Amino acid sequence: MTYEKTGGSRDWSPERLELPPESLRAFGYRIVDMLVDHQEGLANKPVTGHASRSALTELLDQSLPDGPSDPLAVLEELEQGVLRHSMHVNHPRFFAFIPGPGNMVSALGDALASGFNVIVSLWLEAAGPTAIEETITQWLASVCGLPKTGGGILVSGGSVANLTGLAVARHVMLDDKLDDAVVYCSDQSHASLQKALRLLGFRSEQVRVIPTDTDYRLQPKQLEGALIKDRELGRRPFCVIASAGTTNTGAVDPLPEIAGLCAAYNLWFHVDGAYGAAAALSSQGKTELLGLNQANSIAVDPHKWLFQPFECGCILLRDRALLPRTFAAQHDYMQDGAPADVNLCDYGIQLTRGFRALKLWLSLKIFGLGAFRAAIDHGLAMGKFTETLLRAHDSFELVTPANLGIVSFRYRAVGLSAEALDRVNLAIVEACIEDGFAFVSSTRLRNRDVLRICTINPRTSEADIRSTLDRLAILGDQLLASKDQRV
Ligand SMILES: Cc1ncc(COP(=O)(O)O)c(C=O)c1O
Repeated sequence: MTYEKTGGSRDWSPERLELPPESLRAFGYRIVDMLVDHQEGLANKPVTGHASRSALTELLDQSLPDGPSDPLAVLEELEQGVLRHSMHVNHPRFFAFIPGPGNMVSALGDALASGFNVIVSLWLEAAGPTAIEETITQWLASVCGLPKTGGGILVSGGSVANLTGLAVARHVMLDDKLDDAVVYCSDQSHASLQKALRLLGFRSEQVRVIPTDTDYRLQPKQLEGALIKDRELGRRPFCVIASAGTTNTGAVDPLPEIAGLCAAYNLWFHVDGAYGAAAALSSQGKTELLGLNQANSIAVDPHKWLFQPFECGCILLRDRALLPRTFAAQHDYMQDGAPADVNLCDYGIQLTRGFRALKLWLSLKIFGLGAFRAAIDHGLAMGKFTETLLRAHDSFELVTPANLGIVSFRYRAVGLSAEALDRVNLAIVEACIEDGFAFVSSTRLRNRDVLRICTINPRTSEADIRSTLDRLAILGDQLLASKDQRV
């Protein structure tokens, strides 16, 4: 059915918050040009674009603009004044934290989702987008080996995915009664889990932190000992949190053994796979993630190793029906629509939800699953390559080998104490920020400061890694030679 155009002739005044079609096209084309130029020129730009607060006073002190501005001039201001002062986390030599390789197809998908302003709350409002999100999440569940009942929803990221999964565990296992309940995780669990548990009302004495072994993996024997002790003391163990790829070292906890304990002690098995679970897409990754398929809930972060722009996280449930059981709420003003409709606002914390699935769907359709699999394999191979170089490098000692694309290491120098080496390694990170060629970050392992490289960007080459390590060695040598006060 078509309708006659209503509204008569158009008035393009700014009060309608519309640009005339030609200006809007020019604005949009300029943005596309900026994105394409960014993709094409990125490898030759500095990785870091840092600035102090004082250097940004002009930006910080802006008054609200009362009148309109030329759209292309505003884009120029954005490019020169704002984006330049931002690190390029999708740069092939950005190895810090967890890089955000992203992809431009998905970025344009985000623009489409925003432009159509799709709200994926009620089936009534967004039947097609709801179907796409269900398809995508069921597909992710099958990648993780969950049964046909599996599925979930897309959320902002791993933190909210963990929070959502643990909220389901609390509801299903404890009926939301927290007294004497105990949850278990390892000393390498991501900080977002502690935050989630606190928000869910658990006190710190209800969170049992199990020490890890020499490979930074949760120790099932220690876990079982703690479970038995807590039960003897009349407490109520209800959930174990395992990591499928810790952020520090990429370590994967012994998932099959932990799953066995969860089954034996009737515990919820939550896996934080925000970093690593996506690797299940590749056959090598799948082998390393053995046991992932036994989880009750899994946090996955498509904005990490599934190459989506921020924000895109996902919580998967072995039984997705537990999501509406936990989150469904009655909104009187939302009673329209068929009773059997799937309303994704009943599946999580958010009522208003954007069309996050669009970017995943578009990029999967356009590049194909094979390209994603190859991109993950590349990240795994680059991790191994980094490890090989480090083993032979005079300036570094390997601290942890490549685990799911994460390698940790330490600059070394004869005659320096462990504390002095800590300071040198931290100073190397600072020097990296000033230098701009590459960026690696540090972490603490067993009370020592180490450097850490994460190699998941599919556009990172062997040459990028080799030149980065050599640059780090030079920076370390220069710091020592200059007697820099930081070291
Ligand atoms: C293992 C792990 N869990 C959870 C998170 C939190 O994810 P997000 O930053 O997307 O909220 C991260 C982030 O790096 C992570 O590496």
